[in-house]
Amino acid sequence: MLTPDLPLKTERLELRPFRPSDLADLHGYFADPAAHRYLYSEAPADLDGTRAVLARRQERTALRDKGDAIQLAAVLRRTGQLVGDVVLAWAEPEHRQGEIGYLLHPDHRGHGYATEAATAMLALAFDRFDLHRVVGRLDARNTASARVLERLGMRREAHLRENEFVKGEWADEVIYAMLARDWRAR
Ligand SMILES: CC(C)(COP(=O)(O)OP(=O)(O)OC[C@H]1O[C@@H](n2cnc3c(N)ncnc32)[C@H](O)[C@@H]1OP(=O)(O)O)[C@@H](O)C(=O)NCCC(=O)NCCS
Repeated sequence: MLTPDLPLKTERLELRPFRPSDLADLHGYFADPAAHRYLYSEAPADLDGTRAVLARRQERTALRDKGDAIQLAAVLRRTGQLVGDVVLAWAEPEHRQGEIGYLLHPDHRGHGYATEAATAMLALAFDRFDLHRVVGRLDARNTASARVLERLGMRREAHLRENEFVKGEWADEVIYAMLARDWRAR
């Protein structure tokens, strides 16, 4: 089992487990259909839907098996305000492969918080968990997310043409990746 020491701290953020008291703040960005435009997920229909999403996030604090994830609330250290979340999933334990993701409240985009939080998750993946490779996968139209992965120093490895049928249309998927040795050499 891979267990982080939480919370993680960055210059401006604390990355901590989700709590029941995050419900209203999580609903504030997760229930916005625009946030899911390029994701497989759908916006919850109501507060109960977000409550179920929050319950799953609260459990995601360690990696035990393939597919498990550590999903943390990103809060501003200065104010305690929840600005979004960040995730590290254990894609392939036998190959020491991880995957990162992130979602920010629209009011808190454009400040580098996703990049800052994802950098801490890469440090967790490579420095603490000794993963070999971490990927970021996204809809090719999600240019804001691609810019985050490029700022992280990840390499654009693949552009898969119409490999998925998502939300009623064929979508291209782009894959970025970083190896442990890229992380150490950055
Ligand atoms: C993807 C997403 C998290 C990107 O948000 P973001 O605010 O653009 O990303 P960051 O927090 O890293 O901020 C970077 C932006 O802030 C600017 N910025 C300001 N201060 C900064 C700082 N100190 N450090 C880095 N960037 C800074 C950057 O120039 C950049 O703007 P640009 O992309 O216009 O050049 C956001 O669009 C989102 O939540 N989308 C919906 C969910 C989603 O699609 N997730 C990805 C799934 S693959």
